[in-house]
Amino acid sequence: MSTDQPAAVIVLAAGEGKRMRSRTPKVLHPIGGRSLVGHALAAAWSLRPEHLVVVVRHQRDLVAGHVAQIAPEAVIADQDEVPGTGSAVAAGLRALGSVDGVVVVTYADVPLLSGETLAMLVAAHRAEQAAVTVLTAEVGDPTGYGRVLRDAAGGVVGIVEQRDATPEQQAVREINSGIYAFDAKLLSDALGRITSSNDQNEMYLTDVLGIAHADGHRVRAVATTDLWQVEGVNDRVQLATLGGELNRRLLVGHMRAGVTVVDPASTWVDVDVRLAADVTLLPGTQLHAGTTIASGATIGPDTTLSGCTVGEGAQVVRSHGNGAQIEAGAGVGPFSYLRPGTVLGPDGKIGAFVETKNARIGAGAKVPHLTYAGDATIGEGANIGAATIFANYDGVNKHHTTVGAHARVGSDTILVAPVTIGDGAYTAAGSTITEDVPAGALAVARGRQHISEGWVLRRREGTPSARAAQAASEASETP
Ligand code: UD1
Ligand code: MG
Repeated sequence: MSTDQPAAVIVLAAGEGKRMRSRTPKVLHPIGGRSLVGHALAAAWSLRPEHLVVVVRHQRDLVAGHVAQIAPEAVIADQDEVPGTGSAVAAGLRALGSVDGVVVVTYADVPLLSGETLAMLVAAHRAEQAAVTVLTAEVGDPTGYGRVLRDAAGGVVGIVEQRDATPEQQAVREINSGIYAFDAKLLSDALGRITSSNDQNEMYLTDVLGIAHADGHRVRAVATTDLWQVEGVNDRVQLATLGGELNRRLLVGHMRAGVTVVDPASTWVDVDVRLAADVTLLPGTQLHAGTTIASGATIGPDTTLSGCTVGEGAQVVRSHGNGAQIEAGAGVGPFSYLRPGTVLGPDGKIGAFVETKNARIGAGAKVPHLTYAGDATIGEGANIGAATIFANYDGVNKHHTTVGAHARVGSDTILVAPVTIGDGAYTAAGSTITEDVPAGALAVARGRQHISEGWVLRRREGTPSARAAQAASEASETP
């Protein structure tokens, strides 16, 4: 396969993206949990090119910094002040030095273009031994795009931009996607000959096709019928539209692989989410980067998970998780918040209105109601009573709490860290535990109950409480 590898892919990312009206560079806006340029680089990488070049100019440092993070192998090329796709590609070539073979050009703002389509373009280019092959599409409304010009025999003779086109040329509905495969030598030669004598005074990459044709080289076009793949993002309406289509495609892939998605319209998954067969996603579920769900697990409704792993058969209901690990058979929710470092052991339970952070909860252990468990280790089979607080923060430092296996922490206990509850120990409801509790002991740390008989009648005379108390005492006196 190595002979099929292109010498380089040049990804254009120097444009300004004005219509986004954003402080963030356009190509850094994400869909499916990945930046637009990230999508372009993923498709480019799938060709295994010898070189990958990203051409930058506007907000250059932000774009270059991001590219360095997600694709450190990529070469950053700076476009000079000459505007246009032609000078952008020339900058990319300059950064490469001498290059031989096939050079592919793509845009950083065309996120649905797949590696398969690029591979098809390169394969067609090689099969035809073409000098240039352009990816085109037949669209209903070609407004704004460059039009593909053909001779009487149907051969491609060039591309004309909308604003430079005659009315007759504007009627052409085959558009230039802006994605091409070039012979490197021809490309650099032709780029040296293009001018900016056009309506925008820009150096048009598209002029390379006319030059190649005039020189007698083979210029070819391959059309895609999947218009989404050549659609670019220019504004936030297109960002949302393409984001929705990407999501739809990802969900179709998951459903074909055996995932039940009850309501695709309200379910969102990022590109790198992994779902096993027989996962069920209920409406309102959002799964973000780094989330992996094992077979038989059910997520949702109304659940958001980022960077979480969920084991076989586990259930997460109406909850929010970030960096949590939920093991097989465990249950979470409704209405809980799992923060980074949460590990819920097999068959464990985090119930309703529970927040956890950096908490390892053992196999079969339960934290069922209204609890904060931060910086905790909870042993297997332990039960944490309702409204227990792991008081982990002394205002300066965080401290750890350990609860032993099969311990029973009473309702409304405050565990003041650092503190250890031994295996099998109990704490009484309403206790504030500040000292370690030995294994098997009961700790009671609360005021003893004191009864002041008749206090309401004496001190709250005339109130509804006093009348109720009076009635109760008369009822008990009546024989
Ligand atoms: C370009 C094509 C047009 C095609 C359309 C497809 C040219 C002259 N025209 O038009 O035929 O139908 O794309 O979307 O090529 N860029 C740079 N540096 C620049 C200018 C642009 O890197 O100086 C990058 C942009 O960031 C963008 C891409 O090139 O990713 C296309 O630029 P854009 O200005 O959108 O080109 P169009 O005028 O739409
Ligand atoms: Mg454009």
